[in-house]
Amino acid sequence: NDQPAPRVTVIGTGYLGATHAVCMAIMGFDVLGVDVDQRKIDMLSAGKVPFFEPGLPEKLEEALASGRLRFSTDFDEAASFGDVHFVCVGTPQAPDSSAADLRYVDAAFTALATRIDRKALLVGKSTVPIGTAARITTMVQSISPLGAELELAWNPEFLREGFAVQDTLFPDRLVFGVSSDWAEQQLRRVFEPILDLDTPLIVADLATSELVKVAANSFLATKISFINAMAEICEATGADVNHLAKALSLDDRIGGRFLKPGLGFGGGCLPKDIRAFKHRAEELGVGQAVSFLGEVDSINNRRRVRTVDLIRELAGGSLAGVRVAALGAAFKPNSDDVRDAPALDVARLLYLEGAIVSVYDPEANANAHRAYPDLNYVGSMAEAVDKADVVALLTEWSEFRNADPDTLGALVSHRRILDGRHALNANDYTSKGWQYRALGRPA
Ligand code: UGA
Repeated sequence: NDQPAPRVTVIGTGYLGATHAVCMAIMGFDVLGVDVDQRKIDMLSAGKVPFFEPGLPEKLEEALASGRLRFSTDFDEAASFGDVHFVCVGTPQAPDSSAADLRYVDAAFTALATRIDRKALLVGKSTVPIGTAARITTMVQSISPLGAELELAWNPEFLREGFAVQDTLFPDRLVFGVSSDWAEQQLRRVFEPILDLDTPLIVADLATSELVKVAANSFLATKISFINAMAEICEATGADVNHLAKALSLDDRIGGRFLKPGLGFGGGCLPKDIRAFKHRAEELGVGQAVSFLGEVDSINNRRRVRTVDLIRELAGGSLAGVRVAALGAAFKPNSDDVRDAPALDVARLLYLEGAIVSVYDPEANANAHRAYPDLNYVGSMAEAVDKADVVALLTEWSEFRNADPDTLGALVSHRRILDGRHALNANDYTSKGWQYRALGRPA
């Protein structure tokens, strides 16, 4: 192929977009990252990642040094620069319903379609309700000076926070949703370095590629809620969900990943994706097919309430005036993301019941403080557990997993610990005089 390599623009420089832009440049493409947020663009241009993601700062530096990556807020520049334009903007839950809010997606495609004046491919990467790509195709072609010449494709992204670079450079699979051979060829060219690694590729229509993404996240959420539902049964029967999960996981048809019981799932993806999927299926008249996702959501939310119950039990029946050390606020370790975070939700519920809560997270304190300014945030684990009546491990950061029960015990008022993530060795604690409780395990 003697054509010049396609130039790539990435619209939206959040988690997904910033990582995608950096990785595309690392793979050898000329890349322009675009965002409406001047602050983000300034930070990224200066080599600073606006969020916590292990490994990304180093890759950003490498990409900037290569001269292949630039950032801008200018959509005219984006339109003239790119041959392939990736749209990576957010699709949060709408403020007043369980549906996805598509205003940023629509705005990004509109901004591009009204400006692009030569044949180019627009690629959606955001997680969207099924049918969005078809709707946007019609919209784009009606507002573009090129009309039907401007093509759309969908390329869902499966990266996990905390593993964003690795998941982008070495994905399990690639999915191309296309409506023409030309679109498929364009995508093959920009993903050539990954396809060369023998990464499995599924080429599908637009609707299937949209569905792959929400189906994958729904399956993962269902798996977590399944084991957490079993934890509820364990609590009623005196069984131990840890042993149960272990026994199930050894059947390799079931597998152990995403079968870890505890406080459940949170974050900017799983919770809102299952809600938006259920909402969309109802709109399509097939709500019954995924009505179980409502149960998946309820089971997940009940874990938070149950965690508060166990902390109350540990405290002797009432939370009023009880000092609780909340260890963790992020929705999972190695992240500073507190969107729909089970940990922060538990801290908030404790506070509402009159507990005196000290929250410490190694990376997420600032974001948590913005989300819930009422809670008391402290700068270290030692400060959080100081004179605590109950310690609650809510996000399984290694700093908490590796803590020494005696060192902690010297700081607290009462040696009582709730392990919300099955992250600790119960014997290590009970042998040092701690009262230890965990979801789905006998007292
Ligand atoms: C998730 C998916 O794993 C990605 O494949 C997907 O691309 C991404 O959403 C997205 O849609 O963008 P992420 O939200 O980064 O990725 O986080 P996960 O690692 O999937 O964890 C989700 C939540 O599940 C966390 O709160 C975690 O603590 C919880 N979890 C995970 C469990 O409670 N038990 C488990 O066994 C596994």
